[in-house]
Amino acid sequence: MKFGYFDDANKEYVITTPRTPYPWINYLGTQGFFSLISNTAGGYSFYKDARLRRITRYRYNNVPIDMGGRYFYINDNGTIWNPGWSPVKTELDEYECRHGMGYTKITGKKNDLKVNVTFFVPQDYDGEVQQVVLTNEGSADKEFAFFSFAEWCLWDAQDDSNNFQRNFSTGRVEVDGSVIYHKTEYRDRRNHYAFYSVNDAIDGYDTDRDSFIGLYNGFNNPEAVIAGKATNSFADGWSPIASHYKKITLKPGETKTLVFILGYVEMPQAEKFEADGKTINKVKAKAMIEKYSTPEKFEEGMKELKLYWNKLLSILSVTTPDDKVDRMVNIWNQYQCMVTFNLSRSASYFESGIGRGMGFRDSNQDVLGFVHQIPDRAKERIIDIASTQFPDGGCYHQYQPLTKKGNADIGGDFSDDPLWLILSVSAYIKETGDWSILETKVPYDNDMSVAQTMLDHLTVSFYHIVNNLGPHGLPLAMRADWNDCINLSCFSDTPGESFQTYTNPKFAQEGGYSKVAESVMVAALFTYSGPNYVEILKHLGKDEEAAKAQAEIDKMKKNIMESAWDGDWFLRAYDANGEKMGSKECEEGQIFIEPQGFAIMSDVGKDQGTDLKTLAAIDERLNTKYGLVLNNPAYTKYYIQYGEISTYPGGYKENAGIFTHNNAWIICAAAYAGQGDQAFKYYSEIAPAFTEETSDIHKTEPYVYGQMIGGKDAGADIGQTGKNFGQGKNSWLTGTAAWNMVAISQYILGIQPDFDGLSINPSIPHEWDGFTAIRRYRGATYNITVKNPNHVCKGVASMEVNGQAVDGCIVPITDGQKEYNVVITMG
Ligand code: GLC
Ligand code: GLC
Repeated sequence: MKFGYFDDANKEYVITTPRTPYPWINYLGTQGFFSLISNTAGGYSFYKDARLRRITRYRYNNVPIDMGGRYFYINDNGTIWNPGWSPVKTELDEYECRHGMGYTKITGKKNDLKVNVTFFVPQDYDGEVQQVVLTNEGSADKEFAFFSFAEWCLWDAQDDSNNFQRNFSTGRVEVDGSVIYHKTEYRDRRNHYAFYSVNDAIDGYDTDRDSFIGLYNGFNNPEAVIAGKATNSFADGWSPIASHYKKITLKPGETKTLVFILGYVEMPQAEKFEADGKTINKVKAKAMIEKYSTPEKFEEGMKELKLYWNKLLSILSVTTPDDKVDRMVNIWNQYQCMVTFNLSRSASYFESGIGRGMGFRDSNQDVLGFVHQIPDRAKERIIDIASTQFPDGGCYHQYQPLTKKGNADIGGDFSDDPLWLILSVSAYIKETGDWSILETKVPYDNDMSVAQTMLDHLTVSFYHIVNNLGPHGLPLAMRADWNDCINLSCFSDTPGESFQTYTNPKFAQEGGYSKVAESVMVAALFTYSGPNYVEILKHLGKDEEAAKAQAEIDKMKKNIMESAWDGDWFLRAYDANGEKMGSKECEEGQIFIEPQGFAIMSDVGKDQGTDLKTLAAIDERLNTKYGLVLNNPAYTKYYIQYGEISTYPGGYKENAGIFTHNNAWIICAAAYAGQGDQAFKYYSEIAPAFTEETSDIHKTEPYVYGQMIGGKDAGADIGQTGKNFGQGKNSWLTGTAAWNMVAISQYILGIQPDFDGLSINPSIPHEWDGFTAIRRYRGATYNITVKNPNHVCKGVASMEVNGQAVDGCIVPITDGQKEYNVVITMG
């Protein structure tokens, strides 16, 4: 069942009922100020840090769901409603929500009054602008009361939800004309305030929540709205809010437009107050209000936003035989990659914005998805991440975006972390040709006095693996590898111990983790990412070092084949007892997804047919109509030697859930191995546009990936098999976005930046006649036509560049050339 449709021309998803199977959200903002907005206008705003500068309040896991947002209320002679349906939930005569690139438009109509609200955060602007267009579509005059509503958060979202003994006494506001200022804690240690304005005279306001809503009422029936007028309340402690009240009369056909601004301002210490030493200095707020004070200025801002997105999205656009692919590649997957870049894993409807810093591995992988759009910011991000690395190549697993320092609470020793840096730096060079990043001096542990070149960071990353091998010559698994929930040194039997950071006394002497447990996933990631390091060295003329590194890669491949090939697929690990994990010999968890794709893509044992055997096993054991499960069979009991993975009921998360992030690795591997049909099958099982038809089962947004989909084993242990199979969770902020962007654009469509230029080597469904693409790359435009006359899945029979036949599949770069017309004939 669908709950809307794609409007590709406008790059929008149009939601046609407010009762989506879960709140379907969008993100506003690209730099400092961000808002989350659901299809019923729920959500919240923050400035830069979702925990420390939370501007409006939101209640996670609330009843009913999605409570708190920016709401407009209408009292039309006793009929009370919201244009976005919630929170009053009066049935509307018309409803529509359009989520677009950085903006959301919600339209509701009731009893001939149509209200259209557009929300967006302009470029270079610290505020959410809301344009409300009210139209009387009836034949009689309409007189109604109109209210806005926003609830302030007391800045630190974590403190806001637990320190009530203090919080209920600190709230402070100022009202000046039509502007309500939130100045809690401003007179003491803060230099920032927020405001909510409207560009018209008002007939009243409320700033105290209990006066507006009533202590025993809810968002769905605020007393002031029911009464039809504001109380002019003035918050003094408790819960400050901002609500404007206006009496409006519209003649038949008449329209009124109001522009509201929810803004954030920082002031230099010396200029915080007016001369009286206590009134807020409003100069900056007034300038912000002025900037979007009319519908014309509003339009101007929207136009700029559209230009910004059109430019970003124009770097890659494709026309394939499947419009679902086109809308993923050209619009939504790229959009999600940018949102994920901006937000990392901080704030979504599943990430509360108070929990996690940025992840070393997560952020490096995110780079793979957006580097073509904003290479400069990718470079900055890579340097930030690398700056939290330790001199021996190990890494802080997380870092804080505001300080950019490593997070000591989580620490390091996640075995895969360093390898992702090799991949992100390589992706940056392959995209830009900017080799100078390797010479950039980058600190270790944020200490500039021990800074070394980025190349040095890659060297220590590579050798951190080589220097930490276990008994089979495979990388030590440490606290976790890519899979945070495979914790082979934890052996936790006490609630509350973190599976990732708890040090079991058993291993304290050995440095915190077992020197026996080994990760095949990291071994394969090493053989996949390592060759990039080798190529970089060769490019720099460091042939001896390159040969030395290559020897390590070859040795690792040999070790994998000797000790980690299970006959039909690759093992997952050796546990701390030296036992195999992910083997036919195991009772449960016989096959795992993670090592397979990287092993295939680095040709481990290819001469013995490991690639096709492994792909066949994956298809048989892991594939389902909703994607590939992570492992099979699911664990049905707690294995203390494996850690968190076996704490999840089967079918969820890392225990046999469909973890979409690693599905992409198999899509890539199948494409790499020439199985374009298989690759596309796995791609379309999980790509959001393809799940649109089953939105009732999938639940989360049909325009973005989520981290996880319920696997085939979900509910099996309680006799509920199938019930939650296919159900999505944790949408938006996931490495899935980047990796699936890589899978579809670089592996299936085969348009892959390489060190020496753009490589084009598609691996597509055999029915396709071909496709075309436009790729802007290193200052030139590549107009690409792929023809598939013989209906093969893979193979470049010939390539023509500007009319000339060229060998291979890398388009040679000619200095100064601005346009490349590339024709590929497959065969
Ligand atoms: C989450 C984490 C990511 C990890 C994955 C698997 O997505 O953000 O770092 O690799 O889970 O555990
Ligand atoms: C939990 C989640 C996992 C995530 C990890 C790290 O273990 O299940 O997906 O990667 O936390 O935050």
